[in-house]
Amino acid sequence: MSRAQATAFAPASVGNVAIGFDILGFSVGALGDRVSVRRIDRPEVSIAGITGVAGELPLEAARNTAGQALVAMRAALGLDFGFEMAIDKGIPLGSGLGGSAASAVGAVVAANALLEAPRPLIELLQFAMHGEAVASGSMHVDNIAPSLYGGLVLTVGIEQPRVKQIPVPAGVQAVIVHPHMFLGTREARAMLNKSVGMADFVWQTANLAGFISGCYTSDLDLIRASFEDVVIEPQRQALIPGFAQVRAAAMAAGALGCSISGAGPTMFAWSEAGSAEAVRRGMVDAFAALGTQTDHWITAIDGRGARLEP
Ligand code: HSE
Repeated sequence: MSRAQATAFAPASVGNVAIGFDILGFSVGALGDRVSVRRIDRPEVSIAGITGVAGELPLEAARNTAGQALVAMRAALGLDFGFEMAIDKGIPLGSGLGGSAASAVGAVVAANALLEAPRPLIELLQFAMHGEAVASGSMHVDNIAPSLYGGLVLTVGIEQPRVKQIPVPAGVQAVIVHPHMFLGTREARAMLNKSVGMADFVWQTANLAGFISGCYTSDLDLIRASFEDVVIEPQRQALIPGFAQVRAAAMAAGALGCSISGAGPTMFAWSEAGSAEAVRRGMVDAFAALGTQTDHWITAIDGRGARLEP
């Protein structure tokens, strides 16, 4: 007999990582969402409540990322029972830290523990993707995959996704600085140009290849040289007051790179452990100089993905 109730924690994540728009992301274990799921006889998905830093989130399953993920799971597996869930949000809404993805991932990981025959992670990824689509209007996996698998994760393909956990050089840390402002993912996607010029395409491709190669070979110079988004960041940076100053402060303090976390407004930097504190100070002070309050973290990038809680 399978369990009747389970709770899962799913970490926050940084999508894009500058040069991997919609395909690259890393988990941030310092914060996350917690989802409790209970098996019910009624063949439906319902949301009993949302607590934490929730803001205004819909309780209707079809309009909620976690709800829609379980609707997709039930339909794909032909389940004759339903789920009721409670969501405890630890990730601020509209922060660019993968909150909608984490709720969807937490829901599928908890619900998976209630199945007679639990499904592999790659299937859970696909169910959670349906949830993410509710929030952003498109199926992208750069937050779902790291929240589910943990660490720096590349996903290739949408219909048949292939997931690869990329090694991060020893001693490299991430600095995360969340300014207290809201940015909607849907709007930050809608504003993007639909085409890319040839020169930018070549530059961005080179940077992504260089970045991934640098990670596999622990070549920090190559990572630093490749850590530049020439396509998305130039279009979105105007949405974040202080972007240029914050980025400049991070780089002056020795960061390997600094960019927008997902759709923003959170910004992140990678740095060697010895400079992480100075990078954080520079970024926080640059926001503060404009009167913007922040929350901030320094974290390793070898994090664990979503997991069940006892
Ligand atoms: N890759 C997505 C974007 C992440 O930048 O729009 C948003 O969650």
